[in-house]
Amino acid sequence: METETTIIDRYGVMGYPVSHSRSPVIHRLFALQTGQNLQYELLQVTPDKLETAIRQFQRTGGKGLNITVPHKSEVAKLVDQLSERASTAGAVNTLAFKDREIFGDNTDGIGLLRDLVVNLNVNLENARILILGAGGATRGIVGPLLEMQPASLLIANRTLGKAKILSDQFEKMGPVSCCRFKAVPTSEPYDLIINATSAGLHGDTPPYPEAAVSDNTFCYDLSYGLSPTPFSAWAREQGAAESVMGWGMLVEQAAESFHIWRGVQPDTAAVLKQMSVNA
Ligand code: ATR
Repeated sequence: METETTIIDRYGVMGYPVSHSRSPVIHRLFALQTGQNLQYELLQVTPDKLETAIRQFQRTGGKGLNITVPHKSEVAKLVDQLSERASTAGAVNTLAFKDREIFGDNTDGIGLLRDLVVNLNVNLENARILILGAGGATRGIVGPLLEMQPASLLIANRTLGKAKILSDQFEKMGPVSCCRFKAVPTSEPYDLIINATSAGLHGDTPPYPEAAVSDNTFCYDLSYGLSPTPFSAWAREQGAAESVMGWGMLVEQAAESFHIWRGVQPDTAAVLKQMSVNA
């Protein structure tokens, strides 16, 4: 008897470590919801094996990858075609394989904007924005935030030099400046404070500028957890209007990757609900 084999399109997330990633759950929910037949794998790859692992995944029929910590900048150097937003961010979180070419994109910025503007109703036009941290996560969001025409965007970081590099890079796009945590001007409150440091991942709470938070300040942590992150707990203690973790951004950036790969836009609100996290 002849058996029919169906080839299922393969996707995955590559990182190190990667076991904690929620991307497989999210993409399986998207696939179920939109009736797409695909599989999505967790791929733990050390930096020295990155290029080989990507090329092997492509050779063996892989259709696309998400790229996560610590590979986002390195991967930007390996692709054949880079989207404008990935080029501005200097980082890639989505790869699509077409024929023999590798296309690199970055959906983190649009993921954050969709969560803030569409899901959470935050008004960014003319807003005073403070970003804490100046690493890869900040690099991916400064451009998209400046496109929303805020009144100002201040990058505060423990190491001033890293914040200065970013503010110099983006100053052509809008009113961006930088300082150390201790030097954050607090004469006027901030409308939005985004934590983009990785301090919480190590359980640290750096000396965040307390006076920057008012009861009108919306606080958003790019990190997320099942219980409040150190920053989101801190923001609540300071009396912020809202303190939200980055579950919504996670699901929105995944939805944009899914759209790049499959040409369909999943319903993110339904998936956030299904994940039953306190977003
Ligand atoms: P990535 O590029 O992957 O985001 P990174 O370059 O190490 O990683 O950036 C992490 C960010 O978190 C940086 O802004 C870092 O501050 P420094 O530039 O001063 O290193 C910040 N960060 C990490 N741990 C921190 C801590 N304990 N206190 C304050 N800032 C911290």
